[in-house]
Amino acid sequence: MFDKMKLWKNNIDSSDLQERIIKLKEQQVPSHVAIIMDGNGRWAKKRSLPRVAGHHEGMKVVRKITRFANNLGVKTLTLYAFSTENWKRPKMEVDFLMKLPEEFLGTFLPELVQENVQVRMMGNKDFLPKFTLNSIEKAIEATKHNDGLVLNFAMNYGSRAEILEAVKHVLTDSRSGIIDEEQLTEEVFSSYLMTDGMSDPDLLIRTSGEIRLSNFMLWQLAYSEFWFTDVLWPDFNENHFAEAVEVFQKRQRRFGGV
Ligand code: IPE
Ligand code: IPE
Ligand code: MG
Repeated sequence: MFDKMKLWKNNIDSSDLQERIIKLKEQQVPSHVAIIMDGNGRWAKKRSLPRVAGHHEGMKVVRKITRFANNLGVKTLTLYAFSTENWKRPKMEVDFLMKLPEEFLGTFLPELVQENVQVRMMGNKDFLPKFTLNSIEKAIEATKHNDGLVLNFAMNYGSRAEILEAVKHVLTDSRSGIIDEEQLTEEVFSSYLMTDGMSDPDLLIRTSGEIRLSNFMLWQLAYSEFWFTDVLWPDFNENHFAEAVEVFQKRQRRFGGV
């Protein structure tokens, strides 16, 4: 259900947005929205700023969109923050990105706790710097009893690695007799993925005009609705998010049926 009071309070100055929200169907808000937050570098380049300035600006958008999605009644918001391929970037940029969770959660955590948001993370923890992991784990711990929006960060995440890890885990469980071939259904296999316990995304958003998945949730997005926009992530706002939801509500999902 919409939290109308909060929606108005948080976006009081945008009549465009209010009109859009009024038209949205409360019962058909996507339960799980996944976002590939792309275009930070190009946003900065357009302003002759270093790429990291775009990442910093993008962090503020995460806060804005989390708050809005929560007020709209979205249950899970998965955000692609760092891919397993992003290590290829210059060291200085990677270092900056690894410091962002600390800064973001350092200022935003009290608000997340108060707003009943539960923080989660999916991705390979092994190669993350200690301070990055610590700040994320602290947020996970501090919000673990919250039962509002699940804010799921994909950090050092790659879908192929995720699937491969799941397969290896199944093989181990099979060898130790925990599972056999007949028991391995799609549902059971899903429980070996990092999204265990979450529904599949209903809606995938990618910003910045790139029309690809870049190794994001290949299994989970099998029947999701896709919405692409040319808007660069640091320019993305509540109005764009509401537009995506509006388009989503006009789509006819068939899941292979008629
Ligand atoms: C997305 O913005 C953020 C991350 C991948 C971490 P980019 O940094 O990819 O921005 P562009 O695509 O170069 O503009
Ligand atoms: C995908 O964006 C990863 C994140 C948004 C974190 P990229 O910018 O890394 O993707 P490519 O390289 O354009 O495919
Ligand atoms: Mg990019």
